[in-house]
Amino acid sequence: MTRYSRITGTGSYLPPRRLTNVDLAAELAARGVETSDEWIVERTGIRARHFAAPDVTSSDLGVEAAKHALEAAGLQPAEIDLIIVATSTPDMVFPSAACILQNKLGIAGCPAFDVQAVCSGFVYALTIADSMIKTGLASKALVIGAEVFSRILDFSDRTTCVLFGDGAGAVILEASDTPGILASDLHADGKHVDILCVPGHVSGGHVLGNPLLKMDGQAVFKLAVGVLDSAARATLAKANLTAADIDWLIPHQANIRIMRSTAKKLKMPFDKVIVTVDQHGNTSAASIPLALDDAVRSGKVKKGDVLMLEGVGGGFTWGAVLLKY
Ligand code: UT7
Repeated sequence: MTRYSRITGTGSYLPPRRLTNVDLAAELAARGVETSDEWIVERTGIRARHFAAPDVTSSDLGVEAAKHALEAAGLQPAEIDLIIVATSTPDMVFPSAACILQNKLGIAGCPAFDVQAVCSGFVYALTIADSMIKTGLASKALVIGAEVFSRILDFSDRTTCVLFGDGAGAVILEASDTPGILASDLHADGKHVDILCVPGHVSGGHVLGNPLLKMDGQAVFKLAVGVLDSAARATLAKANLTAADIDWLIPHQANIRIMRSTAKKLKMPFDKVIVTVDQHGNTSAASIPLALDDAVRSGKVKKGDVLMLEGVGGGFTWGAVLLKY
């Protein structure tokens, strides 16, 4: 019998501190940085984001999302046999956020590692978990996207600091006789490293270079629109389906204009797109599982629906996962 993988539970967690655009604009004005709710809403669709308290880490957010996903799947932590955390803001240089999170769940022994593919991290992590389940290396995987991007924002740069937020989303992916994950398509092109990066690194006890996020927004925008379309089409072709078969498009939540353009290229009505960027901002690897959990819990996404998850981000990385929920 063919072995597939299937999502059996979702969960998410947002840190309690919520800043509307008006709140953030007021904080930035105090630093002499000018922005407005109008500009942010018009150019990005973002209205609010959550920021974690200074001592809260990605694994802290991730473990809360994981608990909700475990509960939804009806599993105990001890039943998990694989943990993958997608993050670009891990708690430490090493060990991985996944190992720290494993300990916080009170379990030990199963493989646990981080995936670093920035905003594409969750589709990468889900694809790895799917492959490990299909090859028999795991049966009950916990796949998490968790970020504290507020730590790496340059609050003197209005072109980036208004865009991002903190949060975590998680899914339980279990071995199944029926699909599940139908197809994936992952890519990277390292020549675009400079258009979206945090170039600093630790050396000899110091941070060398700029440890804050910098982005050429327009270059990222143009590339994102093209690669999201090609990844969606390639994934559909692998599964022998068309865009008309998709019940819900759940793209990386970076900019509502990118999401509109992706839907338009696929000839999908925008009311089939799950949108949480307005409330979460861009939470990088956490954005897709946060949006998925939101859509499941609000009753939009139902058992049997066909979902297209799509990510794009620093690296440059991009990819898509098509699945039957
Ligand atoms: O997660 C990874 C994926 N990341 C993305 O997908 C981000 C992709 N890029 C974008 O979403 C958009 O390029 C941005 C939202 C970052 C920028 O939007 P844009 O429409 O490309 O604006 P722009 O960079 O062309 O800037 C337009 C104007 C500029 O002023 P001038 O030069 O026309 O006078 C900026 O200085 O808007 C100004 N501006 C702002 N004004 C008020 C830039 N940021 C702000 C701001 N508030 N926060």
